[in-house]
Amino acid sequence: MEERVYNFSAGPGMIYEQVLEQTQEDVVNFRQSGMGVPELSHRGSDYLEIQNQAEVDLRDLMGIPDEYAVLFLQGGATAQFAAVPLNLRGEDKFVSENVSSADYIVNGEWGKKAQKEAAKFLVDANIAAQADTFTYVPSPDTWKLRGDKDSYVHITTNETINGVELFDQVPVLDVPIVADMSSHILSRPINVEQFDVIYAGAQKNIGPAGLTVVIANRRWFGLSRRGTPSVLDWEVQANNDSALNTPPTLAVYMAGQVFKHLKRLGGLETVGQLNDHKAQVLYDAIDGSDFYANPVQPEFRSKMNVPFTLADAALEGAFKQQAKKHGLLNLGGHRSVGGLRASLYNAMPDEGVHALADFMIDFERREGKPN
Ligand SMILES: Cc1ncc(COP(=O)(O)O)c(C=O)c1O
Repeated sequence: MEERVYNFSAGPGMIYEQVLEQTQEDVVNFRQSGMGVPELSHRGSDYLEIQNQAEVDLRDLMGIPDEYAVLFLQGGATAQFAAVPLNLRGEDKFVSENVSSADYIVNGEWGKKAQKEAAKFLVDANIAAQADTFTYVPSPDTWKLRGDKDSYVHITTNETINGVELFDQVPVLDVPIVADMSSHILSRPINVEQFDVIYAGAQKNIGPAGLTVVIANRRWFGLSRRGTPSVLDWEVQANNDSALNTPPTLAVYMAGQVFKHLKRLGGLETVGQLNDHKAQVLYDAIDGSDFYANPVQPEFRSKMNVPFTLADAALEGAFKQQAKKHGLLNLGGHRSVGGLRASLYNAMPDEGVHALADFMIDFERREGKPN
């Protein structure tokens, strides 16, 4: 494909060219069936094979144990903000006694939104820890957990807007740990068993928007049935192979192609090394100059989303405009925080990050002179 740009958007993000090209073919005529993938029946054998293979490949890539269900749902991560309390609140047992609760660790904007949504469904959506500046994850020994044995702890393991990522600091707790991994799932190997539920919107590292992946330990199924909408009920969806209603078939197909591609690259170990390198190149460019700054504490600096500022904020418009001319797109920070941000998802090539780092050095040389 000619004339592709480097798209640093926080989502939807870049998709591997090989996947786009294969999709281009299959979207018109899938395996000589005379039908394109979006036209296949979600109950027919062609589509079922696509979805089953996607699940097999995802299990293989992430090392997902059998006791975890893998769900391909609609509604985005935002629907899961509600689904999490609706599945785990133990309503049948506890709402009548007014003690449904959960603990939220808030280290950025998305965690804040998740907590706010959960508060609609829980008697107490407790903020057990909140980073005052969203530049770090509060240390687990400072978390003020309610400690209810029937509760859960929710954490956003990569904060897309603030660029704060949790690495090996996940504690072992005796309540379920739920993780929103929307913006760093599949970016490196993780131990799935450290978490009870993992969810992620697809439009960053998995594929196109419209698909949400949920990986949930079945031991928590059935806690809360009364009042839980069927489409959000993990057990109901698992019992129906994610097809209680029509699943996002084309998005699942494309996710399956991405999983195959990641396996061809060598799996998540290799992908993680590639991502380490890309992040290093960009943080080196930021740290190597007084003109650029990233406020996140070094041990929590995200390898996927890198917010940064210029010494002179008035130059941000010129930075984005000139970057665009170099094929470097979507470098604006989130509308809620401003500044600049580069998202380095899996499909962002190494050359894209080098091109950005070179541009930054050049921009500073031309525009960053003291007055
Ligand atoms: C960490 C995180 N959680 C949740 C969301 C919301 O996802 P969706 O738009 O799929 O509902 C996003 C979107 O960017 C995100 O980055």
